[in-house]
Amino acid sequence: MKISDSIRYVGVDDKTIDLFESQYIVENGVSYNSYLILDEKTAVMDTVDSRGMEEWSKKLEGELEGRKLDYIVVQHMEPDHSGSLEEALKKYPEAVVVGNAKTFQYISQFFETDISDRKLEVKEGDELSLGKHSLKFFMAPMVHWPEVMMTYEASEKVFFSADGFGKFGTLDTDEDWACEARRYYFNIVGKYGAQVQAVLKKAATLEIEKILPLHGPILTENLNYYIDLYNTWSSYKPEKKGVFIAYASIHGNTKKAAEVLADKIRSLGEEKVAIADLSRSDIAECVEDAFKYDRMVLCAATYDGGAFVPMEDFLHHLQIKTYRNRTVGLLENGTWAPMAAKAMKTYLEGMKDIKILEETVSIKSTLRKENDEAMNALAKAIVDAGV
Ligand code: FEO
Repeated sequence: MKISDSIRYVGVDDKTIDLFESQYIVENGVSYNSYLILDEKTAVMDTVDSRGMEEWSKKLEGELEGRKLDYIVVQHMEPDHSGSLEEALKKYPEAVVVGNAKTFQYISQFFETDISDRKLEVKEGDELSLGKHSLKFFMAPMVHWPEVMMTYEASEKVFFSADGFGKFGTLDTDEDWACEARRYYFNIVGKYGAQVQAVLKKAATLEIEKILPLHGPILTENLNYYIDLYNTWSSYKPEKKGVFIAYASIHGNTKKAAEVLADKIRSLGEEKVAIADLSRSDIAECVEDAFKYDRMVLCAATYDGGAFVPMEDFLHHLQIKTYRNRTVGLLENGTWAPMAAKAMKTYLEGMKDIKILEETVSIKSTLRKENDEAMNALAKAIVDAGV
């Protein structure tokens, strides 16, 4: 696939993977992007997961049309991009590997092949001329690993953004960019907002016409839309006004209470109320929704003296993704000793800038008439907290 006269797409789609990174459901698969630049010198920007090695190798060979490969640029060492690197090193013994000090450290940890006589170590701001094209390297530590770097090519105004601006779904998937890019972002780099902000600051100094990520579509139009979303996400600001209700219910009674609460919130005029069953939903999607909206209500049954396991699991996910800067309401259920609210509060109190509403609802086994007042108070408080 041609991106321009000199840049070719040589990545592959993976439609058969069960779980990306052994945890993320990818109904529409994922793409491992790789790009070949043809100039006086040739350079490939990253390899692909070993699952796509054969197809990638054929594509690369086809696009090279008998030319030698001069450089293999390694922007990210995670195996979904470097899984085919060792094979490429063998197939193209003259190719010089371009990376930074950490890249080479990780290469020696992942692979046995000695590349000490064929490596080019770069650092922030270094440039590599290929002829008419020149690659300028920007370090992007923790977006998503410490060695990550991104690359700008000024003659074509293209920005190779590594995992940044990536998305789940193969390239031929016709779906909304933001939905799967958001789920990808918060679950994979959500913890590293400050580092993403640093990259956005560097990118703001560049004239960019195309963003070439390592997953998902090549972005060529309306780039501010994507950059603005990344800015919102990485600064932990809510993207949308709305309430996300997440419940963990054992026998359905907490679920019923959560649904009644959702109705009450809607009837107070809240336009967007999303609700999810944590026992049966994709947890990565629930993490995404928690970050997407400005408010959240957690509803959980009591279990073994804490909150029902799917809720504890969800809160653990939120904690490691550094969930913050939101208002949260609580509803607990317990037949003999309701403890879920206390457990949920303990998690939330460890997070930054979380306002926990005082209007906690505590029900015993099932929602009753006597809970009405507390339910109404929680609904009103969460609606009033809307920004
Ligand atoms: Fe797409 Fe962090 O690897």
